[in-house]
Amino acid sequence: RRTALFCGLAAGVGGVAAAGCTGSDPAPVATTTASRAAGATAYRPFRGVHQPGIADDPQPYAAFVAFTLLGGSDRASLRRLLTIWTDDIERLMSGRGTIVDQEPELASVTAQLTVTVGIGPRVPGLAGAPAPAWLAPLPAFAQIDRLDPRWGQADLLLQICAASPTTLAHAQRRLITAAGDLVRLGWVQRGFREPFAGGGSGLPMRNLFGQVDGTVQPDVHGIDAGLLWVGDNGPAWLRGGAGLVLRRIAMDLDTWDRVDRGSRENATGRRLDTGAPVTGRALTDAPDLDAVDDLGFHRIDDAAHLRRAHGTAPHERFLRRPYSYDDPPEEGTLSNSGLLFAAYCADPARQFVPVQRRLAELDLLNLWTRPIGSAVFAMLPGASDGEILGQALVA
Ligand code: HEM
Repeated sequence: RRTALFCGLAAGVGGVAAAGCTGSDPAPVATTTASRAAGATAYRPFRGVHQPGIADDPQPYAAFVAFTLLGGSDRASLRRLLTIWTDDIERLMSGRGTIVDQEPELASVTAQLTVTVGIGPRVPGLAGAPAPAWLAPLPAFAQIDRLDPRWGQADLLLQICAASPTTLAHAQRRLITAAGDLVRLGWVQRGFREPFAGGGSGLPMRNLFGQVDGTVQPDVHGIDAGLLWVGDNGPAWLRGGAGLVLRRIAMDLDTWDRVDRGSRENATGRRLDTGAPVTGRALTDAPDLDAVDDLGFHRIDDAAHLRRAHGTAPHERFLRRPYSYDDPPEEGTLSNSGLLFAAYCADPARQFVPVQRRLAELDLLNLWTRPIGSAVFAMLPGASDGEILGQALVA
């Protein structure tokens, strides 16, 4: 299923690790070189019903880039911007430089680049189109939110992901300059995941607390596709798109350092080594929420993240595609790390907010985590042949 999402030579950076090469053995060295070359030119298709960068495997590096539309923006200026971005993104993802690219060699390393375009709450109105009710900043979660406006809501989002940070930086630069005088650049949030996919062990990613993260997910390629993609009950211009909730969540590595392993596992209800629920043995074992210990206490703590985050209704689920960040510490501090928590679903108000509300009320992880940024976007549907992104919104 996964390989179908990739074009070209799919061996990515993870393939190099799997080869387990040492520099001293000539045969493996040749394999490594070939794998590297294959990873460099691996690419993902741009055109389709959905934009790439959502349901496909997360690449190791990501940048979320936000923009504000300048005063006087309207449907025509939006169309101009989306026309330029569509052409540039298609070129970059297929290894060609943009029309005005002065470093086309950098574009030739496609490295599974994807660029996914989203719009904020103000934009449908400027285009004269109806907005879904959920396309609005999230309600306040006063118990936990310590939001810094510098990571707040914006009008446009470019989510750029790649297996090479150079490819990513080049694409980011080209797309920012291409937007020219139509927008003002807002925040840029950079994140990463383990490039050696799952540490070579087949696990989902580990976050900077060392936890296996992203295990329980809806089956968005199968039975749960309707949880992810906007369908007939959304505005026509958004069918095939998805909602994105992007939360910047600081993780206090300094206080986490002082927590023993048992308490760390108790905080989520999962083991640190295998990622298995504390009531099970394997990563994919279903957690037993009713299991009790000798004293009659729940083995998965009543305040454990797993228990609190678990959907209490079938629709309270969404796709998590998180990236870690690890920025330079500010003066007088030792760390500045956390999660770019990216959750995708057809209706964030219905699917995401009830879960976030529950976690805000009670979640052991809140002792070490602090949401400092929050924004909601409508990720546009994919562009079919001959179309621009947002065709049905601005054409
Ligand atoms: C599960 C970490 C924030 C929703 C998990 C797991 C870990 C984890 C380790 C268990 C493995 C897995 O299934 O992925 C974190 C950390 C966070 C964070 C470190 C903040 C820095 C959030 C937020 C939400 C959320 C803000 C949603 C509002 C979920 C859900 C699950 C989960 C739905 C799966 C629960 C289930 O088993 O059904 N998280 N998480 N998490 N998390 Fe988080």
